[in-house]
Amino acid sequence: MTTASSTESTTEARESASPVLSARDLRVWYGSTRGPVAAVDGVTFDVRPGETLGLVGESGCGKSTLGRGVLGLLPAGAAVDGEVRFAGKNLVGMPAKELQQLRGPELGLIFQEPMTRLNPLMKVSEHFEETLKTHHPELPKDQIRSRALEALRGMGIPASRYESYPHEFSGGMRQRIMIALALVLRPAFVVADEPTTALDVLVEAQIIQILADLRRNFDTALVLITHNLGIVAEACDRVAVMYAGHIVEQGDAREVFANPQHPYTQELLRSTISLGTTGLHFIPGSPPDLAHPPVGCRFHPRCPKAMRVCAEEAPPEVLLPSGSRNTCWLPVPDMTTAEGRLPLEVEEISVADEA
Ligand SMILES: Nc1ncnc2c1ncn2[C@@H]1O[C@H](COP(=O)(O)OP(=O)(O)OP(=O)(O)O)[C@@H](O)[C@H]1O
Ligand code: SF4
Ligand SMILES: [Mg+2]
Repeated sequence: MTTASSTESTTEARESASPVLSARDLRVWYGSTRGPVAAVDGVTFDVRPGETLGLVGESGCGKSTLGRGVLGLLPAGAAVDGEVRFAGKNLVGMPAKELQQLRGPELGLIFQEPMTRLNPLMKVSEHFEETLKTHHPELPKDQIRSRALEALRGMGIPASRYESYPHEFSGGMRQRIMIALALVLRPAFVVADEPTTALDVLVEAQIIQILADLRRNFDTALVLITHNLGIVAEACDRVAVMYAGHIVEQGDAREVFANPQHPYTQELLRSTISLGTTGLHFIPGSPPDLAHPPVGCRFHPRCPKAMRVCAEEAPPEVLLPSGSRNTCWLPVPDMTTAEGRLPLEVEEISVADEA
């Protein structure tokens, strides 16, 4: 925990502010030949102004679906239920046209792959003109140019490249242009889905710094999806750990990293390579098929601390004294039966797919 008083007061002010976006019991299903895939299955969280929430978890746990689900950007055929409250309105079920008007000026999405957003036939200048004209038709051309150049400068792209085409840039520069484009309208809430995965560590550090400046300067609330737990520890205020469509632990990032409570978070952190790593640890098995998730706690087939109750009943979410939320039977003092507390016999733990 930091001791700098100015940082603490900023953090306190942030924590007492009303959330910019609140998701309540959000659910998203995809149709599949195996039946409905419950990729996000009853997720609840808040993001406050200027706050960065890191969203972590193994591949296929539903992070991107959650990020897209809150922004109403799901592919055709996906079904969504629950509530996503933003600016006094529920985004779930909002007519597409109304949602479209919020995207850009209010809600932003940064993708991993910049070419999904950049048109190879359009110059950088044309991309900015199109975005700014759509939402600010009153802006004269010189102001469009100055706002675009300011956004690009913030990303370290010089004004001399304004009339270039996307293919004339490196991957890292393209990614920064795409981020500038997503942020030029200064949205209040942004989802960044693995924005740095394809980039080298120096560009990655630069982009993370830019995102931190953004929240400092404009109070932007950010959900940062990443596999890099180091980035979360460094750049996020809070962290939400996803497993098989659920958020299993969420809380202050420093607290969760220093003192992880959920066995999945503990295993995930143990699997991280650092300078002091002497042997590689991996979590046996793999996340379940979300068309047929396990009964009880979804992590129980892989959990080293699983008890009998874990294989029978889904655990409740427990609010811990630290303020973290932990969805696990372990911190529940009064479980249904003493029998329930018995460790699961090893042979009862079925690991579907040993990696
Ligand atoms: N368009 C789709 N149609 C059907 N199933 C999908 C679709 N997109 C994702 N899924 C399924 O939903 C689940 C969650 O996927 P999602 O992409 O949200 O996970 P993720 O945590 O972002 O993974 P990664 O870390 O690999 O990006 C997976 O089981 C995936 O197979
Ligand atoms: S509920 Fe049981 S199986 Fe699930 S994480 Fe907690 S101890 Fe492990
Ligand atoms: Mg993803």
